[in-house]
Amino acid sequence: MSAFTQEILASMKRVEATRAERLHQEVPRFTADEKDALLKEFHPDYSEKGFTVLSTGPNKGSKVPKELAELLEGKSRLEGVPLDLTRVDYDTDVLVIGGGGAGAAAAIEAHDAGASVLVVTKLRMGEANTMMAEGGIQAADKANDSPLIHYLDAFGGGHYQNIPDLLEELVENGPLAIDWLSRLGVLFDKEADGTMVTTHGGGTSRKRMHACRDVTGAEIMRVLRDETQNLDIPVLTYAPAVELLKDDTGRVAGAVLWDYDSQEFLVVRAKAVVLATGGAGRLHYQGFPTSNHYGATADGLVLAYRAGAKLIYADAIQYHPTGVAFPAQIYGALVTEKVRSVGAQLVNSQGVAFMNPLETRDVAAASIIRECTARGNGVPALDGVALWLDTPIIDMLHGEGTIEKRIPGMLRMYQKFGIDIRKEPILVYPTLHYQNGGILINRDAETEIPGLFVAGEAVGGIHGTNRLMGNSLLDIIVFGRIAGEHAAAEAKGRAAVPAERLNLDHVVAFAREREAAGIETTVLSPKLLPTYTHGRKTR
Ligand code: FUM
Repeated sequence: MSAFTQEILASMKRVEATRAERLHQEVPRFTADEKDALLKEFHPDYSEKGFTVLSTGPNKGSKVPKELAELLEGKSRLEGVPLDLTRVDYDTDVLVIGGGGAGAAAAIEAHDAGASVLVVTKLRMGEANTMMAEGGIQAADKANDSPLIHYLDAFGGGHYQNIPDLLEELVENGPLAIDWLSRLGVLFDKEADGTMVTTHGGGTSRKRMHACRDVTGAEIMRVLRDETQNLDIPVLTYAPAVELLKDDTGRVAGAVLWDYDSQEFLVVRAKAVVLATGGAGRLHYQGFPTSNHYGATADGLVLAYRAGAKLIYADAIQYHPTGVAFPAQIYGALVTEKVRSVGAQLVNSQGVAFMNPLETRDVAAASIIRECTARGNGVPALDGVALWLDTPIIDMLHGEGTIEKRIPGMLRMYQKFGIDIRKEPILVYPTLHYQNGGILINRDAETEIPGLFVAGEAVGGIHGTNRLMGNSLLDIIVFGRIAGEHAAAEAKGRAAVPAERLNLDHVVAFAREREAAGIETTVLSPKLLPTYTHGRKTR
């Protein structure tokens, strides 16, 4: 490629030169001690300068990323705004905040349980991380597998920190989730005899990754969005929630929205609320690029925190090992783990396969960072350093046409920029992908705040401190459905709160606590959209 420097081209030649001898090479996995040492020295979660300690709220004293702390302890968008809460704009049994996979699953389930439902979303319905998920969804539905084996894989991957009840709920419901999605119309990859094609992901001991080529999330979101529409569930778009509302007993009773169209605040009264606002990639922790969609700014965490909900593992962040490091137009975008799962190797500037490509994500990311920094085996790319993901080896291993068939999304993404991944390797580096932590829930998806349920990436604890690939698409379905069902049950038979009892007292109390802690801030939160005043990470 003409855009490449001589140094990059020389390194690419070394990758090509060693390909044949690497073809059947299996690089051994790291030992437990090696992993520990690697994480402590090279994973960004261990960088002290990326974190601070909260001075206010339910997690006072806990360590969180600096960018998140600024928002959690920021100023409400409603501070000083005169608002008539008795002028209710929308009334519903269940309010679902978020239009991604978890929100859609919750809305469908709450509707099926007989509740009236309103979905409100910051962007368009489906514009969420679900849509961008690529590699697949885990579920233990093959004869050689079981929810127990799935549990053990996820528990180990999560460093034994997963909340057992939540993990149990996740894995037990895996096969049902696949069945539900199939019945709704998701077209999973199948063999000629109709059995599901399943593959490995990092840290899995069984092939349980179900996929729709390498655009699994887009296919799932297509179906969930269509179903929401079929059921005539009302959706208010471009209307992010800026605060939760409570009643005078402390129950969550709705939300205040900002309507981008009318430029006005709207009041929604609800008998139960499901937060499904997704992740935080667009906060670009420690200057990392991200694979996330534009709305991933941790809004739900801010709303729930001000309402008194606890966070768990908010300092555990997932950096996907293989983000695009070149070309600039797709910098930080996801190169699905499935590329490694079908055989691509991680190779350093010298053409050496330096690690097993299916280590768990935190270990893989740390190993890539070490190779590029301490070991000096990175390849200069754009304004940073990167490593090779040797993709042409896939077709050599499994036959010509495998890339086209198994990872067509990746092939097309790179073709747009004149790169043919069947013929040349690609440059990758870790990208901010997922928040392992989030809001604490129980197995009914309920928080400790009455009336408030959470599903999807805004939840913490299911995956411990490191989620395995494909367990997120699973959790949005499993806990989305659970949240919808339980929110509907909560709303059932409950009278609407008289409008004069709706209040924002918790927001006022939080502002007082912040002032008492001596925090002076002009930062408004939730953030809603990224500002892009941050610089590009220089590694
Ligand atoms: O690599 C991937 O396809 C990402 C999957 C996930 O985060 O679950």
